[in-house]
Amino acid sequence: MAFWQRTKYCGTVSKKDIGREIVLNGWVQRTRDHGGLLFVDVRDRSGLIQVVFNPSENAAIHELARSLRSEYVVAIKGNVAPRPAGTENPNLSTGEIEIHATGVQILNKAETPPFPIEDDIDVSEDIRLKYRYLDLRRPRLQRNFILRHQVCKLIRDYLSEQGFLEIETPMLTKSTPEGARDYLVPARLSPGFFFALPQSPQLFKQILMVSGYDRYFQIVRCFRDEDLRADRQPEFTQLDIEMSFITPDNLFNVLEPLLAKIMKLGLGIDIPTPFPRMTYTEAMLRFGSDKPDTRFGLEIVDITEEVRHVEFSVFAKTVELGGVVRGLCAPGCSGFSRNQLDQLTNFAKQFGAKGLVWLKVTETTVDSPVAKYLKPEIVEQLKIKFGAKPGDLLLLVADKPQIAAEVLGRLRLKLADDLNLKPKDTYQFLWITDFPLLEWSEEEKKWNAMHHPFTSPMEEDIPLLSTDPGKVRAKAYDLVLNGTEIGGGSIRIHSADVQSKMFEILGITKEEAQIKFGFLLEAFQYGAPPHGGIAFGLDRIMMIITGSNTIRDVIAFPKTQKATCLMTNAPSPVSKKQLDELHLKLIKPEISSKSGIR
Ligand code: AMO
Ligand code: AMP
Repeated sequence: MAFWQRTKYCGTVSKKDIGREIVLNGWVQRTRDHGGLLFVDVRDRSGLIQVVFNPSENAAIHELARSLRSEYVVAIKGNVAPRPAGTENPNLSTGEIEIHATGVQILNKAETPPFPIEDDIDVSEDIRLKYRYLDLRRPRLQRNFILRHQVCKLIRDYLSEQGFLEIETPMLTKSTPEGARDYLVPARLSPGFFFALPQSPQLFKQILMVSGYDRYFQIVRCFRDEDLRADRQPEFTQLDIEMSFITPDNLFNVLEPLLAKIMKLGLGIDIPTPFPRMTYTEAMLRFGSDKPDTRFGLEIVDITEEVRHVEFSVFAKTVELGGVVRGLCAPGCSGFSRNQLDQLTNFAKQFGAKGLVWLKVTETTVDSPVAKYLKPEIVEQLKIKFGAKPGDLLLLVADKPQIAAEVLGRLRLKLADDLNLKPKDTYQFLWITDFPLLEWSEEEKKWNAMHHPFTSPMEEDIPLLSTDPGKVRAKAYDLVLNGTEIGGGSIRIHSADVQSKMFEILGITKEEAQIKFGFLLEAFQYGAPPHGGIAFGLDRIMMIITGSNTIRDVIAFPKTQKATCLMTNAPSPVSKKQLDELHLKLIKPEISSKSGIR
């Protein structure tokens, strides 16, 4: 059937079109039959418009329109007219006008959808993901993906202007050192061998620097088999960047304006540059996190010196053994009940605290189970150090520095949520710099790279590699936005000597290094320029600027928490023939072969 093709998108019809005949193509949002007049809201990706069918103007067309149901696909011809006075809808961009229909074609019928196609519906995410094609029709999601497209275009335009080249790198590749579990792909033509899907294009972009491409970027899918959370998906998109002959400052100077432009496009706000910076050490001390949310205060205060000699043995012993005592001042919380305080203590214990000391600040002194161990002058010192006022609540933790930081960092975020301290519509970027190069793994009893093994140590710390590896700082940086890590990168090692030393410390033997990264090490022997880069989590940036609670709302076809796709039912079993071709045999496949339901 030849159908009438649109002359206008629904949401773009305006008062200027009054008197014109137009054609719309779209979906029926809803119909309202007022006995005489029939109102049909028609929707496409640009918005919604009201169409009116009048039986006294054309009875046959009106009759046909009465068979329309939600989500039918239609072509509608009609004249643009002002709405009668008093019937305008100020909530709708097309609320001052309507279409007086002169014809309708039903291009397709539709089953009643399992949920209405509108924002603010109360339906489980599982249902939405199963019927993702319907979910994706909802205006909020359509806005998210339109904006995502615009952001990608902006990125490409800006980086092209800055002399970057977009170059693709392989999806079927070797394991990369990002530290998560790999997704493996069996290689049919090399029985018993596997490709890994890239956790990032890290090694390829470094090779591209060796090849002289100088400034590279890629909007690229990465794959990591790790535990999923609201801001983690097994496949996600990075804006990946690498540059030659640079310092971190050069990189910040090129990329901060890009992020500011993205914020302007997405939220219409001006973000001042340069972005603030903070060292890792300071972030851990003041915020107990390497991705501090600096939109609110509630900073951690260290009182180790003040309580070094108090009678309370928990504090004095911890300090004696090299630990610290730190705390938070929760404003106006001295009225917390026993139950609330117990809950906070349990929360702290979840993150490794041995306990939580509380002090309720009163007009004269403090009310606390440990008050009797604290001399009045110590209490006075603590009040001053915390800036505490009567009515405040001090929460103290004594432990190893890392544990105290972790516990108080978590507690800080929890209190900010409970007390509603996070300001809305505030966006704070922050570079975290001077990360430690290495972190000690208690489990494995060895040093691991905090970023990845190609991250360069600070020159002045290189001698410490042999004597005190834990003290070596890296030329690594993360970008944090409102407490979310949206990017991370580093200046890379480009000297063979330093790289060997690094592998040695990480317990990677020469043979292992050769097998895993031999191609990179070899490439480095043919004139590797100094280089460095960064990767931004595009999904996380989009999540923040669209005000979404999860990155699933900015990924068209995301996976569930269990890394499955409810729409396609992937992953699914495969036939014996396919397995045979790949020389694979399954051990204990606990699946029902027909449905693929686990
Ligand atoms: P990194 O591992 O820090 O660095 O990743 C960069 C950014 O990618 C985002 N991200 C994720 N987003 C969604 N789901 C995930 N599972 C996920 N994992 C990471 C984060 C993170 O900041 N090759 C290095 C970069 C470099 O050194 O240039 C890398 O991949 O926002
Ligand atoms: P206890 O000596 O175990 O009876 O603990 C006395 C109080 O100190 C309790 O309120 C505990 O929650 C708290 N507490 C114990 N260990 C620590 C610690 N490492 N840091 C902070 N508070 C602690």
